[in-house]
Amino acid sequence: MPDAPALDIVVLAGGISHERDVSLRSGRRVADGLASEGHRVTLREPDATLLPFLAEHRPDVVWPALHGASGEDGALRGLLDALGLPYVGARSNASGLAWQKPVAKTVVQAAGVATPDWITVTRDAFRELGASSVLDAVLHRLATPVVVKPASGGSAQGVSLVDERGSLPRALVDAFTYSELAIIERRIIGTEVSVSVVDTGDGPVALPLVEIEPISGDYSFEARYNAGETVFYTPARLEESLAATVADAGLAAHAVLGLRHISRVDFIVDEAGTPWFLEANVLPGLTETSLLPQAIDAAGLRPGTVYADLARKAMADGTD
Ligand SMILES: Nc1ncnc2c1ncn2[C@@H]1O[C@H](COP(=O)(O)OP(=O)(O)O)[C@@H](O)[C@H]1O
Ligand SMILES: [Mg+2]
Repeated sequence: MPDAPALDIVVLAGGISHERDVSLRSGRRVADGLASEGHRVTLREPDATLLPFLAEHRPDVVWPALHGASGEDGALRGLLDALGLPYVGARSNASGLAWQKPVAKTVVQAAGVATPDWITVTRDAFRELGASSVLDAVLHRLATPVVVKPASGGSAQGVSLVDERGSLPRALVDAFTYSELAIIERRIIGTEVSVSVVDTGDGPVALPLVEIEPISGDYSFEARYNAGETVFYTPARLEESLAATVADAGLAAHAVLGLRHISRVDFIVDEAGTPWFLEANVLPGLTETSLLPQAIDAAGLRPGTVYADLARKAMADGTD
C-alpha cells in the first residue's frame, strides 16, 4: 500500500515485568521498523502517565511490545479496550488465557494437539503439605527427567531442567519466585521448533519454522539473549511434511486460544515426529536475537513492513 497514509502509533515497551529489558529491546526494534515505513511513532513506558496520555492523544493504534505481566496477561489490553483504542495482538481475554500455561495446555490439548503431561503445584501447597510428600505424589505420576517452570512467565526465567528428585525442591523454589503456581512437566527430548504466526489481513499464516539448538543444551535466558550461544536454523531442518504438521499444530493452537494478529507457538518435536505444545506467546520476542524476526527474514519479508501491516490490520479490526 504505497499511498496509505502514515499512522500515529504508540509503541509500548519496558514496564515492571521480569522481562523489562527484553521488552525495551523489542520495542525499539518495532518503533524503528514502523518509523522506517514512514509512520509517526511514539515509544512509551507503561507508567502512571500512560493511560491519561493515551486518552488525550488518541493514537490510531497502540503497538504493545510488552512481555510478561501486564503486557501479556491481558490487563493492559483490557484497559486499551476500555479506552476504545485499537491495538496489535490478542484481545485481553485470549491474552490472559494463553499467559497461564496450564490453562493454555488444557485448551490446546482439547483441540487435539499433544502437550507434555504435567502437574501444577502451588507455593502454599508445597509449604503446607511438605516438600517431600508433594514430591512423592508428583513422581508417582511423572518420571524424571522433568521440566519445572512458573505457570506464567517468559524468557525461560525460573525454568529448570531436572534430572533427579534431589534437584526438584530447588527448582520449585526458583519457579515460585516468578509465580505462585509452578508446573512440573514431562521433559520431551527432541528438536525445539517455534511457529511464528502472523495475520496481516488474509488470515493467520505460519512463517518458516525456526529451529533452536542451544550450544549448552539448555535454551536458558542467557542462551536467548547473548549472540552466539544458540544456533538457529530457519527454516527448521525438518522433513517437509513434518514441518507442515508442526506449522498446522501452531496454527491450531493460535486459533483455539483465540489469538489474533501475531503469536509464536513453541514446540518440541520428538523422534516419532509428534510436535508437543509447550506454550503460546502473545507478544513474542522481537529483539535482534529473537525468533519471530528471523522467521520474517526467512519468509523474504521486512520486519518493519510486517509490523506496519499488523498496525493497519489492528486499526481495521477496531476496538472490542
Ligand atoms: N516439557 C519440556 N520438555 C523439554 N524442554 C522444555 C519443556 N518445557 C520447557 N522446555 C525448555 O524450556 C524453555 C522455556 O520453556 P517455555 O515453556 O517455552 O517457557 P518460556 O515462557 O519461559 O519461554 C523452552 O524453550 C525449552 O527449551
Ligand atoms: Mg517459550
